[in-house]
Amino acid sequence: MITGKYPSLRLRRSRKFDWSRRLVRENDLSTNDLILPIFLTEGKNKKIEISKMPGIFKYSVDMLPKVIDKALLNKIPMIAFFPNTLSNKKNDFGSEALNEDNLVCKALKISKKRYKNEIGLMADVALDPYTSHGHDGIVKNNIILNDQTIKILIKQSLLQAEMGCDVLSPSDMMDGRIGEIRKALDKKNFKDIQLLSYAVKYASNFYGPFRNAIGSKSLLKGDKKTYQMDISNSDEAIREVAMDIKEGADIVMVKPGMPYLDVIKTIKDKFKIPVFAYQVSGEYSLIKNAIDKKIINKNAIIESLISFKRAGANAIVTYFANEVASRLK
Ligand code: PBG
Repeated sequence: MITGKYPSLRLRRSRKFDWSRRLVRENDLSTNDLILPIFLTEGKNKKIEISKMPGIFKYSVDMLPKVIDKALLNKIPMIAFFPNTLSNKKNDFGSEALNEDNLVCKALKISKKRYKNEIGLMADVALDPYTSHGHDGIVKNNIILNDQTIKILIKQSLLQAEMGCDVLSPSDMMDGRIGEIRKALDKKNFKDIQLLSYAVKYASNFYGPFRNAIGSKSLLKGDKKTYQMDISNSDEAIREVAMDIKEGADIVMVKPGMPYLDVIKTIKDKFKIPVFAYQVSGEYSLIKNAIDKKIINKNAIIESLISFKRAGANAIVTYFANEVASRLK
C-alpha cells in the first residue's frame, strides 16, 4: 500500500524535528510496561552481585523493603521473585518448592504484608531452582515426567497463592499444566489469582547467566530440549498458546525476547490477548557488557525494549527495569 511518490512525497519531512517525530511516533515505552525480576538469596543483610550480570544483585529477604521501595518509586507495576536455593536444600524431587519457608514464600509473605496491592507479585511455577539435577520437573530414567510433575506444580501453585502471589507464572513447559493449575486454584477459591503462562519458552542458549544466578547451571544434566520448544519453530508456538488460552491462561509469555520478536508478533496478531516478553539474562548480559565496554551506547537498552512494543508485547520482564524506569520518569 504505497500512498504517494517522490518527489511530492518525502518521508523525511516528518523526521525533521523532534516535536514532529514525537507526533508520528507509533510505539512508546513507559514504566507501565516493565516487570522487575528479583533474585533472592539466604542470609541476612546480603546484597551480592551476579558475576555474569553486572549491576544485578541477589538479595536476602530482609533487604526486600529497600528493593521494592525503589521499584515503587520507579512506578514499576510488578516484580518477580527467583530463588538461589542452597544446594543442600535441593533434591531429585525439588521438595523445597513446597516448603512454606523457602525463599520465594518468605519474599511473598513479607511483600504482601507490607505492600498489600500497591505492587504486583509474580512467582514462577517450576522445579528447576529446587532440583539437584536442574530440570524443571521430576526425572525418571532420563525422562522428565509430565503428569507426575504437574501434581507437584499444583501444590507449588496453591502454596504460592496462599503466601500472597498475585500472578503465578508456570515456566516449566509441561503439557496441560495451565488447566490443571487453574482447576486447583478455583477449587480452593483462588479465583482471582492470574496465570501468566510461559507458553512459548524456547530451549535457548540465552539462559546461562540466570542458571548461574540460581545455582542450577553446574547441576543441569543434559539439556531441556524435550520440554522447552525447538528454536527453529514458530507454528508450534501458535499451538502452545492456543492450548494455554483454552486451559485458562490470562496472559502468555514469549521467552527469550529479541531473538523471537517474530513469534511475539504472530501471537499478538492471531490471538489479541495480553502478550508479555521476557528479555532474558543472556540478552541483558550481552547489552550490558557491550555498554560497559563502550562498544555500544546505553540508548541501546531503550531500543531493545521498544522492539518488543513494536512486535506487540504489552509488557516486558527485564533486568533493566529499574535503570530504564528511572530514565523514563
Ligand atoms: C526456569 C526459568 C529459566 C528462566 C526463568 N525461569 C531458565 C531455564 O529455563 O533454564 C530464565 C530467565 C533468564 O535467563 O533470565 N523455569
